[in-house]
Amino acid sequence: MASASATLLKSSPIIDKSEWIKGQNLRQPSACVIRCHPTSVALTVRASSYADELVKTAKTIASPGRGILAMDESNATCGKRLDSIGLENTEANRQAYRTLLVSAPGLGEYISGAILFEETLYQSTVDGKKMVDVLVEQNIVPGIKVDKGLVPLPGSNNESWCQGLDGLSSRTAAYYQQGARFAKWRTVVSIPNGPSALAVKEAAWGLARYAAISQDSGLVPIVEPEILLDGEHGIDRTFEVAQKVWAEVFFYLAENNVLFEGILLKPSMVTPGAECKDKATPQQVADYTLKLLHRRIPPAVPGIMFLSGGQSEVEATLNLNAMNQSPNPWHVSFSYARALQNTCLKTWGGRPENVKAAQDTLLVRAKANSLAQLGKYTGEGESEEAKKGMFVKGYVY
Ligand code: 13P
Repeated sequence: MASASATLLKSSPIIDKSEWIKGQNLRQPSACVIRCHPTSVALTVRASSYADELVKTAKTIASPGRGILAMDESNATCGKRLDSIGLENTEANRQAYRTLLVSAPGLGEYISGAILFEETLYQSTVDGKKMVDVLVEQNIVPGIKVDKGLVPLPGSNNESWCQGLDGLSSRTAAYYQQGARFAKWRTVVSIPNGPSALAVKEAAWGLARYAAISQDSGLVPIVEPEILLDGEHGIDRTFEVAQKVWAEVFFYLAENNVLFEGILLKPSMVTPGAECKDKATPQQVADYTLKLLHRRIPPAVPGIMFLSGGQSEVEATLNLNAMNQSPNPWHVSFSYARALQNTCLKTWGGRPENVKAAQDTLLVRAKANSLAQLGKYTGEGESEEAKKGMFVKGYVY
């Protein structure tokens, strides 16, 4: 037993950090240890040297009336967005669009964090300022997508798993140096394809390893097992699958000694499958989703930041508002990509003269979701565009 404890205590990385981040001022693991009673089993765990900072970052992101702008589309996905408005997928066009987003005046009143793709984290705006600096000036915490996307999972029912653990600790350390303070890892679970026990376990384990590695580098991990909208199933089936998925995710998060106070969750709302003939009202979505969260999510977790997953902009806001009609143990908010950007992108259309109008539409959506976080959204005065569903069968992010 003594030697097992000693091994855990000696858990310094095999490669010295200075080897892979030359000349960067990284913190050393703190000497702080959490010990159980000396006669019980060896459960000595080295606390992250970033523990206090992680808790503070998570609380800042989960602050009242604010949520996350997900703008971390990979270059391929961003290309699809640009194509929809007739623009070529060039670095200059991606830069112009991301500049428009991050520099919308007053965005930080409603947005507490922005998830970036790696290119954007290291990119400047069209006026030559670092995107990260513009965000910080707006009081928005910069975040980074760290997963490397989905590939087929051999031995499963045509399901997928998420890549990106190899070399992750050196990437997260470098992202911290570049100004990122939180991370995102999105994996998916498909209801029509099972989900198989293997796919759920793999998704949960990958999320837990990623979360532990991110915390070790000072990044608050967003834990995102997206349960895809695809399918004809009803809301009860989604609820059943979500219960299973979140039970496994928390089992492995605990096994990996992840600090729950220093994570954020990004769940799908509990809804019927997109091709189900029965539709759910915001009240039903809220009832099922909150029941799931109460059963599965410890109150130590500071924030639940939902994805929109193909819902229309208005639907995603109405559902969030319904969930905030009475106090919750966690901050219940948004981390939308499509449900914040859709009207904005179309209004811009790639034309410099439309930048201001596009920023205004982004602010309209950000404000609507801010009100929904506070349970005060009325749904009045929304455009027809914002009511259009965005579900795409077999969607790849
Ligand atoms: P959507 O809100 O478009 O589903 O995107 C969420 C997401 O996973 C991006 O981080």
